[in-house]
Amino acid sequence: MSDTIQKNHDYKKFVIDSKLQYFKPHATKIEKTFAEEIYFSLGQDSKFIDPKFFYDKKGSELFEKICSLPEYYPTRTEISILKKMHDELSSYIDDDFRLVELGSGTSVKTRLIFDIFTKLQDTIEYFPIDISDILTESSEQLLQDYDNLFITGIVDTYDGGLEFLKTYDDKKNLIIFLGSSYGNFFTNDGFAFLKKINSTMKSGDLFLIGLDLVKDKQILESAYNDSQGITAEFNLNTLSRINNELDADFDLKNFEHFAIYNEDKQRIEMYLKSLVKQSVIISKSNLLLNLEKDELIHTEHSHKFRLTQIDELLNGAGFEIKHTWLDDNKHFSLTLASKN
Ligand code: AVI
Repeated sequence: MSDTIQKNHDYKKFVIDSKLQYFKPHATKIEKTFAEEIYFSLGQDSKFIDPKFFYDKKGSELFEKICSLPEYYPTRTEISILKKMHDELSSYIDDDFRLVELGSGTSVKTRLIFDIFTKLQDTIEYFPIDISDILTESSEQLLQDYDNLFITGIVDTYDGGLEFLKTYDDKKNLIIFLGSSYGNFFTNDGFAFLKKINSTMKSGDLFLIGLDLVKDKQILESAYNDSQGITAEFNLNTLSRINNELDADFDLKNFEHFAIYNEDKQRIEMYLKSLVKQSVIISKSNLLLNLEKDELIHTEHSHKFRLTQIDELLNGAGFEIKHTWLDDNKHFSLTLASKN
């Protein structure tokens, strides 16, 4: 790897070869450590663990498994819409666009968008924005599979990466945020994030967002309580992670995965339920955690949307909606928007 060869704002540029380069911030913000975050979140009366902690290596593998479970309809439904909307999306793109992805994909979904770009462009420019090392692995895999691909990874938070992009050049960006990951934000944080995306877009840029829709409670609850118990394993893995990384003594047998649809708040709520009254030591957080029998630790919200709410949300954040695509059952949506 050749090292720092160019400074772009506060980022270091790493050139791996003619098709792959990364930008990483020079100095990362002082962020709270895992131990500090857990000390805070499990020290509250209403205990919680931030869902970002699901995704260690094991958790990411479990999430991949979730995506192909029969009960977990979002992934395959979003893929089916992407296949169906192929020609229509093409009509909004020309050879001056690059693809920017919030999160890094090796997935079928990113590849389906590459297929659209390939029809319109000789070379595809792809900018994944991801804080994690997975970006480096996934980029190498994609380059093996696509001859015409040029990747510039931005190893940073979404906010940081978007800010970087804003001043990068004049090329048009199609920014994609798929998988209904937006649904995992708290409402206010999510709205602020949409406004952030909007404020970093140039006129001519486009934004494509995948959102899960409100539907029958039974379908929703089965998607988060699958019969093979993979979602339960995914949820409980957070405790294993705390055991391994923070020297804790959670006994996983004393906890149960619990996921329920809250109709008023239009969200799946995921918890870890303490099956007994118990105390757990989390050494590296310097915390003695006391849990009552049936006490819940909140681990995730997954919001579901109505189409009218998607319009309000995007318009409110400064977007103009170009097109919304749905599957036949109206289970999932993909919305393309420009800056208003
Ligand atoms: C990543 N995110 C959109 C998933 C969801 O459906 O909210 C995470 C997930 N949690 C349990 N199953 C899947």
